[in-house]
Amino acid sequence: MTTPAVIPEISVPPSPYQVPQAFSLVIFGASGDLTRRKLFPALYALAHDNLLPERFAVIGFARREKSHEAFREEIRVAVDEFSRFRPVQPEVWERLARGIYYVSAAFEDPAGYAALGKQLAEVEARYGTCGNRMYYLATPPTSYTTVVGQLGAAGLVSAPWPELSGTDWPCWSRVIIEKPFGHDLATAVALNAEIHKTFHETQVYRIDHYLGKETVQNILTFRFGNSIFEPLWNRRYVDHVQLLVAEHIGVEGRGGYYDAAGALRDMVQNHMLQLLSLVAMEPPATFDAEAVRDEKVKVLRAIRPPAAARVGEVTVRGQYVRGALRGARVPAYADEPRVAEDTTTETFAAIRLEVDNWRWAGVPFYLRTGKALPKQVTEVTIQYRRPPLRLFEHAPHPGHRLGDEVEPNRLTLRIQPDEGISLRVGLKPPGPRISLVPAHLGFVYRDTFGVDPAEAYERLLLDCMLGDSTLFIRRDEVETAWGLVNPILQAWQEAGREGLAYYPAGSWGPTEADRFIQGDGRAWVNP
Ligand code: BG6
Repeated sequence: MTTPAVIPEISVPPSPYQVPQAFSLVIFGASGDLTRRKLFPALYALAHDNLLPERFAVIGFARREKSHEAFREEIRVAVDEFSRFRPVQPEVWERLARGIYYVSAAFEDPAGYAALGKQLAEVEARYGTCGNRMYYLATPPTSYTTVVGQLGAAGLVSAPWPELSGTDWPCWSRVIIEKPFGHDLATAVALNAEIHKTFHETQVYRIDHYLGKETVQNILTFRFGNSIFEPLWNRRYVDHVQLLVAEHIGVEGRGGYYDAAGALRDMVQNHMLQLLSLVAMEPPATFDAEAVRDEKVKVLRAIRPPAAARVGEVTVRGQYVRGALRGARVPAYADEPRVAEDTTTETFAAIRLEVDNWRWAGVPFYLRTGKALPKQVTEVTIQYRRPPLRLFEHAPHPGHRLGDEVEPNRLTLRIQPDEGISLRVGLKPPGPRISLVPAHLGFVYRDTFGVDPAEAYERLLLDCMLGDSTLFIRRDEVETAWGLVNPILQAWQEAGREGLAYYPAGSWGPTEADRFIQGDGRAWVNP
């Protein structure tokens, strides 16, 4: 396909939402999995919903040589396979495809950035994208500083003034950086310092795709958009909080990455601490990026990192061995491709944290995540205290015995799948006796809204296009989160095999984890 010198007029139907200004997006790592599975399907969905500006171009940047046309074709196949809107509509695809280009170069090759500059100038002239540029680093993390440094050296990054002044300056540059952001505290600090040589903090969008999930954002609306929950959201009423990210998948061919990371780096430092911040934060004064992130970071600062000698008391780490899941045999983690035979990497972690502030002092937050568990489910459980007085007996009903203790209220925020919220209450069953059975008051996302939640990347890409960084991680947040997990990482590394508990694939984790929470007089909530 030869690109016409002047782009034909197309009409994008009006959108009820704010549509970004004209801009160009450059994706580094354009032949990678993230680009194919998530980024382009998300761009297609935005095009489908008329949320992309009329004047818009995407330039893929990767080492492998190919033509613009071949790249478009490759992306078309990916969108066909991974889009949530299938079949792909030809007119929507055409609208997106006409602005797709490709530059091939190695990330460390300055000539590649000169070529990129030329390509950018060309699309900016053709599409009138005003020099607004969004760079997406979908590369291996080892390339982040190289790409950012090269962009700066090639003069492809504008000054941050539009963000700082809040004026309608005609040209902006922003960068989205994928996780993992650093490997520990020191590397995250160093990475921030490197990025800040080229980009001002207001131009940096550190992504955590959990924040793009509708149900994660719903934690804030549920808490702060209603008056009846917030007064009960504290140490006077809450016994403890559980955050669970269970995955039935193993490492799925990512053994090389995962074996150097483990559950703590892969899930806890980012996704789970983000969930915890949203559950525990104070209401922000306004719903803008700085106010929200100020409150989130305050929560992280209120958690005391465990002293090295206490890490064993507040954590359990596990690794799966051979087992069975849904009738299929699952090999041990250590037998996965590209995992070291003598690996001590954790595929399961359970951690007790305390948020030492007026709202939460004395309320444990239990974080639990693992691979090869029986279910794929993410949920937050707010476990309320028992009623002070036991007035009613439990009614006999399946699974419960007469005289069982009344079950305390429990609020479950189901992040995925079967998104929704449910509150367990005790109610009187039919019959002449006054007694209690548990019942659930519930909200089911799909039933209420008639649709499934959008993909996280759609929301996050759109927010960055609009210059809204509320759902992105600020520098102090990422560093504080690393500061929290760092002592655990170090203690686990020093302990090696000692203290590593094993669990069969398809179970809910090592029995040590059950003993760990039972020792506090509590039990895991397994969905
Ligand atoms: C990624 C982790 O960040 O999140 C993966 O690297 C994990 O190991 C994934 O499977 C989970 O994301 P989601 O959206 O499927 O819950």
